[in-house]
Formats: sequence, structure tokens, C-alpha cells
Amino acid sequence: MIKPPLTCALFVVLLTYAVPAISTASISNNIIRQVTDVLTGDNHALVGTATERQFISFINKYGKEYSTREEYMHRLGIFAKNMMRAAEHQALDPTAVHGVTQFSDLSEEEFEARFLGVQGGKSGTLLGGGGEAPVLDVKDLPESFDWREKGAVTPVKMQGSCGSCWAFSTTGSIEGANFIATGKLINLSEQQLVDCDHTCDATDKRACNDGCSGGLMTNAYEYLIKAGGIQEEEAYPYTGKPGECKFSPEKIAVRVTNFTNIPGDEQQIAARLVHHGPLAVGLNAVFMQTYIGGVSCPLICGKKFLNHGVLLVGYGAKGFSILRLGNRPYWIIKNSWGEKWGEDGYYRLCRGHNMCGMSSMVSAVMTKTS
Ligand SMILES: *[C@@H]1O[C@H](CO)[C@@H](O)[C@H](O)[C@H]1NC(C)=O
Ligand SMILES: *[C@@H]1O[C@H](CO)[C@@H](O)[C@H](O)[C@H]1NC(C)=O
Repeated sequence: MIKPPLTCALFVVLLTYAVPAISTASISNNIIRQVTDVLTGDNHALVGTATERQFISFINKYGKEYSTREEYMHRLGIFAKNMMRAAEHQALDPTAVHGVTQFSDLSEEEFEARFLGVQGGKSGTLLGGGGEAPVLDVKDLPESFDWREKGAVTPVKMQGSCGSCWAFSTTGSIEGANFIATGKLINLSEQQLVDCDHTCDATDKRACNDGCSGGLMTNAYEYLIKAGGIQEEEAYPYTGKPGECKFSPEKIAVRVTNFTNIPGDEQQIAARLVHHGPLAVGLNAVFMQTYIGGVSCPLICGKKFLNHGVLLVGYGAKGFSILRLGNRPYWIIKNSWGEKWGEDGYYRLCRGHNMCGMSSMVSAVMTKTS
């Protein structure tokens, strides 16, 4: 069983999608409709088109700078291709909105190189270490629930060009558990994990935490149990680059005592979320690069190819569907790509279908105040 670390990558699964859906699905989003057919390699043909106008507004919105005309033309070509990809995603995922995001000028390869490092792969089994959580009663769960309203979630963070999603997923779950235990919300240090944690999975020695090249949240818990705990963000700030370990045990803010794997039943996950706090989750992020908002409920999304670590913070009963294809129950997921991405940094993913593998790698952490 190959159990590679979450690499925070996108696109890995995309190539396996059937594209014909596009020709039949109605694409009503303006953004998408303006995609031109100029994808033949001559980027100059894009000049003056609706695609270039969109590209210019993208440049302004995200403060992009290209130093030469060549670079500009190169990015314009990539942008046009990404608009095509967004159109594919829109066709496959009609209840969400897909289009221009801050990543729209990065090629597939660049995205992989910057936001991952190691190739993703198959996963989906429970991970080694940490026991399996006992079954909870799922009666009387609220219809909707959101830990943000209770003050258990720190502001959305930004991992930058570093495949450290696993560290943000880990800190998010500890921040939540610590808030519930102490009533205090504090930012915890991803950089400590990036620099100091090289733990490998107990059942797959190849799945090791490796800074900006990927990792697993359960490995991070193992590391933190051994190290004694985690420092505050302020005491060990994020740089987005792997560096020398500067962990000082005397500055530990929260101690990690144990963790559990949550079985892949979404009712159980909901119960654990409500009773325990925000949960670390691994999923297939292929639809997230082009995601703008709405409830993402793709027709096809690989369930075995988990490549991104995120934080489950709540759920809702009925998500507004932009194309009125029906209301869907959804999960509320905190991402680590800044507040400009998605819905103020959050992703809503439809609930009840193990969508994009979201129920196969879920863990909860137990903490003790330092
Ligand atoms: C950790 O949690 C598991 C259940 O998930 C339990 O079996 C185990 O005893 C716990 N370990 C400690 C040290 O509390
Ligand atoms: C966490 O960090 C953010 C960004 O630096 C800051 O705005 C926030 O006040 C900090 N503390 C908490 C508890 O969120």
C-alpha cells in the first residue's frame, strides 16, 4: 500500500477526467464563455481578445508583475489554457463557480513544483499510529454547525509556494482543540513542523514529513507527541521555506497528547466535528485551483488520490446552488491559500459522497495546555 505524503498539489488527477462532458453541459458563466479558441500555441493571437482583457484584470487584481513582454505573452498563453481548464471544471462541477484565481498564470508543472515537490499518489486507508476513534451517537446532531462562529478558528493563513498544507492542517486542528480546552485561541507554528518534523508513517516508511515537499498530519502529531508540543506562531514565525530547526522546548504553547483516526462515515465525521472540534482532513484538491465559490460537487473526483491537507470546521444543510441545480448539504473547509482564494479562504464541498476522498483521511488531536 503506497501512502505518500500530502503534497498540497493540484492537477495530479485531472488528466484522467473525461472531457466530453464539456460539449454537452451548459456553461453559463461569463468568465468561461469568453474563453477563446486560441490555444494553438501562438499566444500573440490572444492579444486584444476577451481573454487578454480578463488577463489584464487578473494582473491588476492579484498585483502580478511580468518583467518582459516575452514573459507577459508566456503568462497570457498559460492563462488562456487555465481558462479552458476552469471551463472543464465548471462543466464537471456545475454547482460551484470556477474561473480565474490567483493561480491562473501558473502552468501545471509550475504549480506542482511550487505547491508540492513529491508526486501525489494513492491513499485512502487509515494511517498508522493513533487508534481508531470510538463510534459516536449521531442522533440530535445540529442541522448545521460552524466552529468559526464559536471562535475556535484562527484567520485564514497562506502557505505560499511551499507544499506545507499538512502543517497548516495540523496547526488548525490543534488550535481548535486548544481553544475548546482553554477558551483561548492562539496561532500555532507551522514553521516548527516544516523545519523540525521528519517523521515517517508507522506503516509506510516512505511517507515522511518533508517541509515544503509534503507530509501527513498524523506524522506531525507523532512528532509533536515526541517533541513535547508546539510553539506559538509569533515565537516561531512562518517563512514558507524549509530551514534549520529552531524549536525551543521551553517555549511550548500547547502539548499534544494523542490523536485518533476517524472512520470514513460522514455522519461520524460530523459527530466528531461537533463534539471534538475542527478536524484535519486530506482530500483530492484537483477542483480547488479554479474554485471561486459555491458548493463544489464534481461529477467525477478521484477519491483515492489525496494530495492536499485542509481543516474541516463545519457543515451546512443546504448550499445555495449558483446554477439552481439543487441545494446540497456541504462541508465547510478552511484552506491555507490566503483569504483571496475561494470564499474568503474557505471551500464548500458537498457532503455525503466521500467527495474527492474527503472522508478517508480524517484525524482528531488531543491536547494539554503547557
Ligand atoms: C490514544 O487514543 C487511543 C484511541 O484512539 C487510545 O486507544 C489510546 O489509549 C490513547 N493513548 C493514550 C496515551 O492516551
Ligand atoms: C493570528 O494571526 C493573525 C495574522 O497575523 C492575526 O490577525 C490574529 O489576530 C492572530 N491571533 C488569533 C487569535 O487569531
